[in-house]
Amino acid sequence: MGRYRVRVVTGAWLFSGSLNQVRLWLVGAHREAKLELQLRPARGKEEEFDFDIPEDLGPLQFVKLHKQHMVVDDAWFCNLITVQGPLTSAETVFPCYRWLQGEGVLCLPEGTARLAGDNALDVFQKYRENELKERKQTYRWATWKEGLPQTIAADCKDDLPLNMRFHEEKRLDFEWTLKAGVLEMHLKRVYTLLRSWNRLEDFDQIFWGQKSALAEKVRRCWQDDELFGYQFLNGANPMLLRRCTSLPSRLVLPPGTEELQAQMDRELQNGSLFEVDFILLDGIPANVIRGEQQYLAAPLVMLRMDPSGKLLPIVIQIQPPSPSSPAPTLFLPSDPPLAWLLAKIWVRSSDFQLQELQFHLLNTHLVAEVIAVATMRCLPGLHPIFKVQTLPSVLTPLEPK
Ligand SMILES: [Fe+2]
Repeated sequence: MGRYRVRVVTGAWLFSGSLNQVRLWLVGAHREAKLELQLRPARGKEEEFDFDIPEDLGPLQFVKLHKQHMVVDDAWFCNLITVQGPLTSAETVFPCYRWLQGEGVLCLPEGTARLAGDNALDVFQKYRENELKERKQTYRWATWKEGLPQTIAADCKDDLPLNMRFHEEKRLDFEWTLKAGVLEMHLKRVYTLLRSWNRLEDFDQIFWGQKSALAEKVRRCWQDDELFGYQFLNGANPMLLRRCTSLPSRLVLPPGTEELQAQMDRELQNGSLFEVDFILLDGIPANVIRGEQQYLAAPLVMLRMDPSGKLLPIVIQIQPPSPSSPAPTLFLPSDPPLAWLLAKIWVRSSDFQLQELQFHLLNTHLVAEVIAVATMRCLPGLHPIFKVQTLPSVLTPLEPK
C-alpha cells in the first residue's frame, strides 16, 4: 500500500507512439491493481504517473498492458515500464521493446534474467511455458528449398511477425536508396540511348552521379593487374586467397608453357605463389534473366607476390578440365590486352557470384535466420540471452538486406 510511481517509455522509432489508449495493471505477489490512467503514448517520450494504491501488492512480478482501439488499431512500440514502489527509491524494470498491436493483454515480467526452474508453481515458470507456446505459433519453420537451411514460415515481409520487421526508418532508407539507384540507372540509359559503345573508354559516359574516392580509383585503374590482385584481399570477397603448398591439380599446363611452369615452381619455393579457386561454382546451372541465358564460370587464378607485397596474376584458367573437352585455355598477362582483360572480368564476375551465394546469403542471412527462429521458439524472454544488448541485430535478420 502507498504511492507507486510508474514510468512508461515509448520507442523513438517512427510511428512508435499510438493514438490508442493504454491501460495498465500492476501485479504483485499478493494481489494486482488496475491503474486509473489515460495514456496515449507519444513517440520518444517518457511519461510518469503517480498512483495511491490502498492494498499491499507485495513484491512486483508483472505489469499487464492492454491497448484499446475503437476504429484504427494504431500499433505502439513500448521500450519499457518502470515502477517505483512505496518506501523505496529503487525502480523495478519491466522491459518490453516490442510492438503492441491488436486487442490482447500483454504481460511483462519483471526484467531479472531467470533460467527455467523445476518448480511448476513458480509464476515465472508458468509465464515462460505460456510464452513459449505462443512463440511456437508465431515463429514457425518452413523449407524454402530442399538442402538449404530452414527459414521462418513467411511468403513475404508482411507475413513476418511484427517484431521481426525493420523499423520504419530503416525500411524507408532501403526504399529510397533503391529508388535513387533505379532512377540514376534510367537517367543513364536515356543519356546513352543514342550513343553506341565502341571502346572501353565509352564506359565513362555512365560514370557520373554518386561517386566516391574509391570509385574514382577503380575507374582509373580497373584494368590494371595490380588492382585485380589487390581486390582478392581488399574487395568484397577476401575469403578465397590461399598460399600454395603445391600446384593445384586442376591446373593443366600444356606443352609450350614450360617458362610459366618454371616461374610457378620458383614462386612456390619462395612461398610467394597464391591461388584463388572458384571450383564451388562448377556445375551450377546459370539463370535465365528476361529470356536471356546467363553463364557462370569456375575459374582458377594463380598469383605471385612481388617483393613490394603486391599480388599480381600470372595465369587464369576459366573452367576446370573436363574429360569430355580439350584442356582448358590458359590466359596470361602476355595475351592480347582485351583477351587478358576479359579473363579477369570473368574472374571478377565469379568472385561476386560466390561472395553473394556463399559468404553473404548462406553464411550470414540463412544461417542467422536459423539461429534467430530457433532462439525465438525455444528461449523465453526471461532467458539471460535476451539481456544481451546487441541481440536485436542478431534477431532481426529476417527481412532481406
Ligand atoms: Fe545482406
